[in-house]
Amino acid sequence: MRYGRIAGWGKAVPRKVLTNFDLEQMVDTSDEWIVTRTGIRERRIASQGETTASLSVAAAQQALERAGLLPADLDLILVATSSPDYLLPPVSSMIQHWLGAKCGAFMITAGCTGFVYALATAQQFIASGAYRNILVVGAEVISPAVDWTDRNTCVLFGDGAGAVVLQASDTPTGVLSFVLGSDGSGAEHLMMPGGGVADPPTHRTIDERKHFIRMNGREVFKFATRVMGHAALEAVEKAGLTMHDVDLLIPHQANARIIELAARQLGLPMDKVFVNIDRYGNTSTASIPIALVEAIEQGRIQADSTVVMVGFGAGLTWAAAVVKMGVLDQPRFALWRAIPSRAKMRARVAISALQMRAGALLLPLYARVTRR
Ligand code: UT7
Repeated sequence: MRYGRIAGWGKAVPRKVLTNFDLEQMVDTSDEWIVTRTGIRERRIASQGETTASLSVAAAQQALERAGLLPADLDLILVATSSPDYLLPPVSSMIQHWLGAKCGAFMITAGCTGFVYALATAQQFIASGAYRNILVVGAEVISPAVDWTDRNTCVLFGDGAGAVVLQASDTPTGVLSFVLGSDGSGAEHLMMPGGGVADPPTHRTIDERKHFIRMNGREVFKFATRVMGHAALEAVEKAGLTMHDVDLLIPHQANARIIELAARQLGLPMDKVFVNIDRYGNTSTASIPIALVEAIEQGRIQADSTVVMVGFGAGLTWAAAVVKMGVLDQPRFALWRAIPSRAKMRARVAISALQMRAGALLLPLYARVTRR
C-alpha cells in the first residue's frame, strides 16, 4: 500500500481587508449581527490582478518549497475551485504554466467541499502507484460573484487559496480514509442561476442579477448541521479510529455556529477544533487548506497528529477525510526556504529571459545551418 503524505503546504490571501465596519457603510447590517450570527470579523477581498490563478500559484510555490520540490518534480496538479479565472481554459492549466510545471492538470468542482474531493482524488493516483508528487490546490476568488447589495450573502464570503503537496510514502500517513457525498436535490439552495449554459449571459441575466450567488442560508445551515458530524464520524470509523484518536478537526469555515454544533455532535471540545473564520470569512473551497496551513503554522498539528477535515457546500455536497500528518519538516531544505520567494521568482524569470535571448541568438545560426 502506498500512502500520500502531506509534504508541503502554503497559503495566499489578498492584501485588502474588508471589515464588518466597512460593510456597515455598504448594506443595512452591523458588526454585532455579523459576529454573533457567523463569527466573522473581517475577510480578504481580491484587488485587480489578484485572481484564482495568481493566489493559487503563490500558495503552490510555498507548498513546493516546504516539500523541497521544484515545479518540474510534480506529476499532477489538481485545482479545486468554483471561481476559475475563465470558463475556458481551465485554471489548472494556467497554474501549471505559471508555475513552470510539466505535468497534467485538471480542475475539480464540488462547491466548498472541493478541496477534500481533490485530496481524496490525489490519494488514488498515489495509492495506484501512478504518481509520486501531486499538487492539490483549493482556491477561490468568489468576491466578483457576490452581490454587494445583498446583506444575506455579502457579509459571508472572502477570497484566498491554500495548497498542499501530496507525496508517495510507504509509512501509513496522509489520507487514511475519506467520505464523499452529494445530494443534488438541494441545488437551488446555493447557486448562481445565470451565466451558465442553462441561462447564458445576456443583458437580461445581468439585469436580473443572476450572475451573483443566491443562497437560502437557513436551508444550507440545516443541511450543514445534518451532514457534518455524520461525515466526520464515518471517515474516522473508516480509518479504524474513534473520536478519541482525533487531535484536531478542521471544518469548512462557513459559520462559527455550524462549527460549534458539529463539534458538539462529535463530542469534541473546541480546543480540538480549528477556527479562523473571524479573519477570512467563508473562502469556500480555500477554507480548509488555509485553515490547515494556519493550524500547522500555529503548532496545532504535530508529526503524529490525526486530523479530520470536513466540508459541505453547493451541490449540495459534503466530504470528510482523516489525515495523519507524518513528517512535518525536512531540515535539509531549510537553506532553500531561507531565500525569499520573490528572489527565487526573480531568478526564475531572469533564467527564462536568458534562455529566450540565447534562443534568439542561436536561431539565425540554426536557420543558416539547416538551409545548407
Ligand atoms: O459554504 C457554504 C455556504 N453557506 C453557508 O454555509 C451559510 C449557512 N447559513 C448561515 O450561515 C446562516 O443561515 C446565515 C448567517 C446566512 C444567516 O443567519 P440566520 O441566523 O440563519 O439568519 P436568518 O437567515 O434566519 O435571518 C434572520 C434575520 C432576517 O430578518 P427577519 O426576516 O427576521 O426580519 C434577515 O433579514 O436577519 C436578517 N439578516 C441580517 N441582518 C443584519 C440577514 N442578513 C443580515 C445581515 N445583517 N447581514
